[in-house]
Amino acid sequence: MKTDVAAGGSANEDQERFWNDMAGPLWVAAEEEIERHTRPFGEVALAIAAPAEGGAVLDVGCGCGATTIALAAAVGAGGTVLGVDLSAAVLARAEERVAASGASQVGFRRADAQIADLGAGSFDLVFSRFGVMFFADPIAGFANLRRALRPDGRMVFVCWQAPSANPWMAVVNRAAARMFGLDAPPHDAPGPFSLADPERIAAVLDIGGFRSVEITVHKERLHLGSGQPVEDWVHHRLMMGPARSPYLESQPDHQRDVRAMIAESLTAHRVDVDDPMSGLAMDAAAWVVDARP
Ligand SMILES: C[S@@+](CC[C@H](N)C(=O)[O-])C[C@H]1O[C@@H](n2cnc3c(N)ncnc32)[C@H](O)[C@@H]1O
Repeated sequence: MKTDVAAGGSANEDQERFWNDMAGPLWVAAEEEIERHTRPFGEVALAIAAPAEGGAVLDVGCGCGATTIALAAAVGAGGTVLGVDLSAAVLARAEERVAASGASQVGFRRADAQIADLGAGSFDLVFSRFGVMFFADPIAGFANLRRALRPDGRMVFVCWQAPSANPWMAVVNRAAARMFGLDAPPHDAPGPFSLADPERIAAVLDIGGFRSVEITVHKERLHLGSGQPVEDWVHHRLMMGPARSPYLESQPDHQRDVRAMIAESLTAHRVDVDDPMSGLAMDAAAWVVDARP
């Protein structure tokens, strides 16, 4: 796997630290659960993207490679797919999965998609499932992806709608912010909600060089955290969310209380209110963006 990041090739050092050192290993450990709830969003985007057989595809923020493998199946043995990600941990898992799948037309590169030289006009399709919301400079990031596209190419990605439409993330984040006295992050800060405003998506893509942009809605009711105590699921969300530092820095007793209080506040979302292992049913909503130069 080629690596640009180690040579200082990242314009997103905070995100690189987060995804490489902290979130990547957690993402790999929770791969099955995460895959279950993100798969339907990726499938909708893949259906819209309709990769052509023999095409060249870039998978941005490819994570553990589930979409990379699906894209490889769509383009067939005559096509190519390059998965790019900031995190060595997820890329190692993606390489393992691809080796097991036998797909030989797939490559990976550890690089910052905002600035990496991906080759001008190299791809027929730029695809991403929740991997394009973390650019410190989204205009630069999308302009870089635009450069990598052929003039008749297409970019299709999914990104999260606003926190109010995604209680599965927002409820824990909000409760933790209250408990640790955190201010709400700016709405356009790099993170899961940075592209929540469709007007911002359209404006950023327009400046980035995309002329035709169609944005549609996809919603799911997620079944989360089944087979584990709600506190464990809350712990995972806290580790992935904006309160992770104060949470990690607090005393073990306080951490336990925080988890217990948030778990209690989620009782109404339990699939079976009498069974704390039954998991939670919560709404999620994303934008599916289909853009052409
Ligand atoms: C929310 S995860 C999604 C992973 C995967 N696409 C999936 O659906 O499971 C976001 C991924 O984007 C990667 N990422 C964030 N910023 C990036 C950047 N500037 N360049 C490349 N990858 C990036 C992260 O390392 C992480 O693996």
